[in-house]
Amino acid sequence: MPRSAPAVVAAETFTRAAQPVLPVGEGLVLRPWLRRDGPEVYAAFQDPAIARWHVRTADTVEEVGDWVDSWARSWSSGAAANWAVADSRSGRLMGRASLHHMELWHGEAEVAYWVIPAARGRGIAPRAVEALVGWAFEVAGFHRLELRHSVHNAQSCRVACKSGFILEGINRSAGLHTDGWHDMHLHARVQPARPAEPAFPRDIPYEAATQPVFRPRR
Ligand SMILES: CC(C)(COP(=O)(O)OP(=O)(O)OC[C@H]1O[C@@H](n2cnc3c(N)ncnc32)[C@H](O)[C@@H]1OP(=O)(O)O)[C@@H](O)C(=O)NCCC(=O)NCCS
Repeated sequence: MPRSAPAVVAAETFTRAAQPVLPVGEGLVLRPWLRRDGPEVYAAFQDPAIARWHVRTADTVEEVGDWVDSWARSWSSGAAANWAVADSRSGRLMGRASLHHMELWHGEAEVAYWVIPAARGRGIAPRAVEALVGWAFEVAGFHRLELRHSVHNAQSCRVACKSGFILEGINRSAGLHTDGWHDMHLHARVQPARPAEPAFPRDIPYEAATQPVFRPRR
């Protein structure tokens, strides 16, 4: 049966246009992934925190190269939007910022990120998330972005809060990690409502514009 409302995010955003490079400011950029990022992603996944919270092991550079290729390809199918966080001058990989679990019809997606150990504590993740969110809301037209992290991942919770993702609750036993099921924080940001047109001209006092005019009977 046909849907009775249009999709919130147009599929053509992904199928008809190349993945954009997004400026982050302060010497950082979000750019599409390249297979040659494989060795740096392999190195990132040797970090116990990245391996733990993303529940992945990287065994060979070759295998990681295939994985990075799949991140690059995911754009054109509208399945996910994966960006490398890179130093805009040296090109050095600093991390990853992504939208996954994208549901274009309802305009929903989930934000994910990691930053290499040597670059942590400088606010890179919150700035990368802000650039990602700006594109998702203002260009793509997403309505709601969610962010989930284990209740034991305090650093990720700080990124969520600093990026304006409001804590909506705890999903019990919702994230399977190598040591078992973790309760997960659910944070979200919702598309800011467009400023409403004033219902009355600004130079008329509010009461005069909203109260019906009283005309006494003669
Ligand atoms: C979570 C993560 C992305 C934060 O990235 P970041 O660029 O360091 O973010 P910030 O600089 O804003 O730091 C966030 C918090 O990390 C902590 N932190 C600061 N310096 C740190 C360092 N050198 N090493 C580790 N954590 C540090 C602080 O608590 C900070 O919060 P604060 O600003 O209130 O003090 C990064 O630590 C990471 O990649 N961790 C492993 C993977 C991961 O957890 N991914 C998210 C899964 S949901």
